[in-house]
Amino acid sequence: RPSLLPFRGIYVMQGIFKEETLMELEHFDVLHDDVFIISYPKSGTNWMQVLMRLVYAEGDHKCLEGVASWEKTPWLELQKSKVLQLSRPRIITSHFPHRLAPHALQEGSAKVIYVARNPKDIIVSLYHFCKNALFMEMPKDFQSFLEVFIDGKVLMGSWFEHIQGWMECKHPQLLYVMYEDMTKDLPAVVRRMCTFLGKTLTEVQIESVVKHSSFTAMKNNPMTNFSKAEKLFEDNIKFFRKGKVGDWKNHFTVAQSEWFDAVYQERTVGLGLDFTWDLPEQPA
Ligand code: A3P
Repeated sequence: RPSLLPFRGIYVMQGIFKEETLMELEHFDVLHDDVFIISYPKSGTNWMQVLMRLVYAEGDHKCLEGVASWEKTPWLELQKSKVLQLSRPRIITSHFPHRLAPHALQEGSAKVIYVARNPKDIIVSLYHFCKNALFMEMPKDFQSFLEVFIDGKVLMGSWFEHIQGWMECKHPQLLYVMYEDMTKDLPAVVRRMCTFLGKTLTEVQIESVVKHSSFTAMKNNPMTNFSKAEKLFEDNIKFFRKGKVGDWKNHFTVAQSEWFDAVYQERTVGLGLDFTWDLPEQPA
């Protein structure tokens, strides 16, 4: 397994990211009708990509047929040539922290949906992702992974820096969406997205968006479940692991949880974050 490559204070996958491409991104030509999905890895990015496409297609699930999901909403830092081939309005994904994003985007020249998730669940999801992904360094154990995460020496660097940069960027073209809210009340999140994107969907269309973006629907759809992708993982389908809020409780010891909470308190002061850390009952 390759180790991560440092790039301007973050870390990227060796052999997958190209430094020349990354260097050019700050000058990327953002179009006024572009819509960016921005997130820290494991925050629900793939879910949001599918939701966005369904919203633009007014709930018609045929939009998910034919072409793999990640080709339609490509990652700027990974698939720039695909981005340039998109028809407008382009839906573009990025995991970049605010300070490395295209300058035009930092200045608010296009819409951004920032997907955030409680970091304890991100750690668990990323831990399993690293174990499964052939292009990621294999974590030694959960404790050492937690240390590396807190240190920011993981894919895309520090979560704390990521959330701070994008939370402090208060331009009016930015919509914050929480993974936990998507889990609790997806129709409400879809309605907020519609308002933000200027789309009018009927309740029946919203129902269809919700149905075709469910965990089970995405896990079973070859166009969204990575079964058609090249072999990137030991088990591609395991990408859809649990899709729950609060799985961190099955991984963190009490001491690890208290340690993380203390770091979290100190490093998110003033950001106004209000994550849901657990939900009593969640749909399958
Ligand atoms: P878990 O590992 O906790 O299951 P990303 O797309 O940013 O890499 O995020 C991946 C996480 O989102 C994984 O979390 C994955 O299971 C979850 N996920 C993907 N699609 C989902 C959906 N439709 N509903 C709920 N969770 C989903």
